[in-house]
Amino acid sequence: MEKQLTPLSLIPYPQAVERLSGFFIWKRSLKIFPGEFGNEVALFLAGLTVEIRASMVDSEALTQIKIKIDRELAQEAYQLRILCEEITIRAHNETGVFYALQTLRQLIMSGYQVGSTQIEIQAVNIMDAPRFAWRGFMLDEARHFQGMQTVKDLLDWMAYFKMNVFHWHLTEDQGWRIEIKQYPRLIEVGSSRPANQVSGFLGKQLNANPHSGFYTQAEIKEIVSYAAARQIQIVPEIEMPGHAQAALAAYPELGCTGGPYQVSPRWGIHSDIMCPGKANTTTFLQNVLTEVLDLFPGKFIHTGGDEAPKTRWKTCPDCQKLASESGIARINDLQTILTNHISQFLQANGRMLIGWNEMLAEGLDPKAVVQYWVGRKKKLLQHIRSGRKAILSNFAAYYLDHGYAHSPLDKVYQYEPVFEKLEPEYHHNILGIETPLWTEFVPNRARLDWQVFPRLLAVAETAWLDPRKKDLASFHQRLPAFLKQLDVKNVGYSKLMDSNPPFHKRIFGALTLLQAGKGERSATLCDSHSTPSQPDRWQPDQQ
Ligand code: ACM
Ligand code: ZN
Repeated sequence: MEKQLTPLSLIPYPQAVERLSGFFIWKRSLKIFPGEFGNEVALFLAGLTVEIRASMVDSEALTQIKIKIDRELAQEAYQLRILCEEITIRAHNETGVFYALQTLRQLIMSGYQVGSTQIEIQAVNIMDAPRFAWRGFMLDEARHFQGMQTVKDLLDWMAYFKMNVFHWHLTEDQGWRIEIKQYPRLIEVGSSRPANQVSGFLGKQLNANPHSGFYTQAEIKEIVSYAAARQIQIVPEIEMPGHAQAALAAYPELGCTGGPYQVSPRWGIHSDIMCPGKANTTTFLQNVLTEVLDLFPGKFIHTGGDEAPKTRWKTCPDCQKLASESGIARINDLQTILTNHISQFLQANGRMLIGWNEMLAEGLDPKAVVQYWVGRKKKLLQHIRSGRKAILSNFAAYYLDHGYAHSPLDKVYQYEPVFEKLEPEYHHNILGIETPLWTEFVPNRARLDWQVFPRLLAVAETAWLDPRKKDLASFHQRLPAFLKQLDVKNVGYSKLMDSNPPFHKRIFGALTLLQAGKGERSATLCDSHSTPSQPDRWQPDQQ
């Protein structure tokens, strides 16, 4: 990064910035010729404040802003050349055009002051391309359903910061949130719970607030196409065999004991998981996934696989029978049998399975992609070194549900996700990084905004920019212009003074990691959120 100059107002910062002399004057009277990129240009224009919103024209002769295809550039790469007289974008295809337009939009919006009718943009030649192909954010809507508007708003911010994977965690012990037509009870029974556990992960108390919500297939299609227009692939997660108590409540015959089960009001790890020994279980999963595949056109489907205790399997006659027929050494290996079966099913349908790192085992289908979150790295490194793929969601820095005491903004920014131990020749097996937001303690939008922002910007920069060019001081110079933009949209981000708490607060935060929801306060406190001010900001010290 150019150390000596004030950086351009861009997050993520581009890989190469060459400053030229002079300025381009951006104003509303400008015209832009979209060529074949009408969708990308329409979204770009819609993202500008109306006072400075240019318009589209139908002839290149009338425009100072030109878009050209250049197949020599890599898939997501772009060139944005801003001269005093004109702006030219070059890209391999619409993805690079979309990103070039986000860069231009950031330059314009960062220079915008209320009432501005024109903005000076530094003449510059930007050559840019991402570090990682996978730049993900995960939202858990199973613990707390957030709804379509919040999802769309998050997709807008992701696109603005050039993130391209929205991992949608839709099924859990505490709720099933996706309509499956063949199994209506998943919604009728599985999408509502009677209460919520309060006072943290170790809390014994329940409140009496029922919680429910789900997406119809029509709503899912709307969100999938909203994301696609913004170059974002949605990866749905259908958890198996664990974190599945809502499905068991709807269809108890899928469990080892036959139930009855309830949609759980409690957080944590549940012993009642799907029974791989029942013939119905794989049929159910394939039928569910068949509908899921129709809704989500992307290459990847997430099947969870984390935190699945084998307690019930050990005493279940059907699981014992399957284990002996399969000749496996340990009952736990039934998880690998199930995962491989589903992985083969997905491949037969042209898709790839992703699962959390607990699924790593000898005999795992080599095509399965592992999402690493926590635990010993030995097996993961073996997996990567043998040419298999991984996504990194390191718990130490990328869990957005952690408080700022545990994961302060600067730590998140400076964190290098790729393990030092991993030899460079294997780095290409890391598809990229992803930052999850689990929502046990995120019951509302104010709390969600506070957990996500501004840390999402730090992750976006790590996902995009060459690590040798990252620079914390520069990030802090660029951040205020974006916080202003978040303010305009009423996003209740964590203020900078709370985002890097002092040492004594950090120690306390680490101690409360389990007691109050991975380092945060309990849902009762969030529920008692005081009368909203503008923006509706969650207060970390609220009592
Ligand atoms: C996880 O946090 N259980 C993937
Ligand atoms: Zn069983």
